[in-house]
Amino acid sequence: MSIIEWIQVLVLVTGCSSGIGLAVAARLAKDKLRRFRVVATMRDLTKRGPLEEAAGETLNKTLEIKELDACSEASIKDCVSSLPDRRVDVLVNNAGVGMIGPLECQSMAAIKELFDTNFFGLVRLVKEVLPDMKQRQSGHIVVMSSVMGIQGLLFNDVYSASKFAVEGFCESLAIQAMKFNIKTTLVEPGPVVTEFERKVYELAETMDLSGTDEETAKIFRELYLPYSKKVFSSLGQTPEEVAEASYPPLRHQTNRLYMPMTALKHADPTGRLPLEAFYKMIFKHDSVFNASLGVLRLLQRRAGKK
Ligand SMILES: NC(=O)c1ccc[n+]([C@@H]2O[C@H](COP(=O)([O-])OP(=O)(O)OC[C@H]3O[C@@H](n4cnc5c(N)ncnc54)[C@H](OP(=O)(O)O)[C@@H]3O)[C@@H](O)[C@H]2O)c1
Repeated sequence: MSIIEWIQVLVLVTGCSSGIGLAVAARLAKDKLRRFRVVATMRDLTKRGPLEEAAGETLNKTLEIKELDACSEASIKDCVSSLPDRRVDVLVNNAGVGMIGPLECQSMAAIKELFDTNFFGLVRLVKEVLPDMKQRQSGHIVVMSSVMGIQGLLFNDVYSASKFAVEGFCESLAIQAMKFNIKTTLVEPGPVVTEFERKVYELAETMDLSGTDEETAKIFRELYLPYSKKVFSSLGQTPEEVAEASYPPLRHQTNRLYMPMTALKHADPTGRLPLEAFYKMIFKHDSVFNASLGVLRLLQRRAGKK
């Protein structure tokens, strides 16, 4: 290894086949000061095309692609052990999957599968890199959480629960990590326009709603889905915007437009304020909510963001 490689910060990013992981990996690899050596990982290497394209000239220089499946301890171990001295200075735990829809229509197998990626995937990775970070007395664990790790939303019960688990895990770990000079950061984006959005809506459109009652199915199809799509097109960030965000400890909400909503949670410890606000926004004042999304979309367009 050359001296340059030794002084570079080694960043391991998970879930780089698309979206935020891909954008973070490419952004760091292209750093003008060449401060980072990026190990961009994905579970299926046949999907490496878009990352290779985004990496451009940095490919196999400051960016290297490796296989890593967050649901497999062996795959994580193989990947970390393949690195010189097993050194990971920064872990960006990004791999994640989504799920929307009435709870009654989700199988227990699918729910467990989601937790296996979103929560246990993080646990497996941290277990693998933490002992070495502690020994070196340095490191940074960056975790892609979500605003839904702060505030739950209807029809996102399972996804939100997985991100709450991520938040609780990191908040607890951060205290011990600090003693070993290891930083912890929870990145909490609102909607981001990626494959994630396409995948959850595609599944939602074909979802078998026979497991739930008619009223719930109607609320999901006719109210939630159209609103949710509007929220994405009005408030959605690009993965590049999320990748640009600096990562201060402990929490980083990337979307300012979401802050008033998450602030409600902290304003009222009884939980009544956010509960009633969301209820009224969705079921009572839907036309006002719709109109404000329209205005936001217009402002975004004028600002040249869409
Ligand atoms: N998009 C949003 O609105 C949004 C908002 C807040 C937070 N987030 C979070 O941001 C993270 C990235 O999401 P994204 O929006 O960039 O979605 P995305 O484009 O769908 O990317 C998700 C990535 O995770 C990978 N992945 C899934 N399961 C994996 C596993 N077992 N092992 C390794 N990689 C796995 C996917 O790989 P495959 O291609 O092989 O499936 C893909 O590379 C997720 O944790 C998500 O919860 C997203």
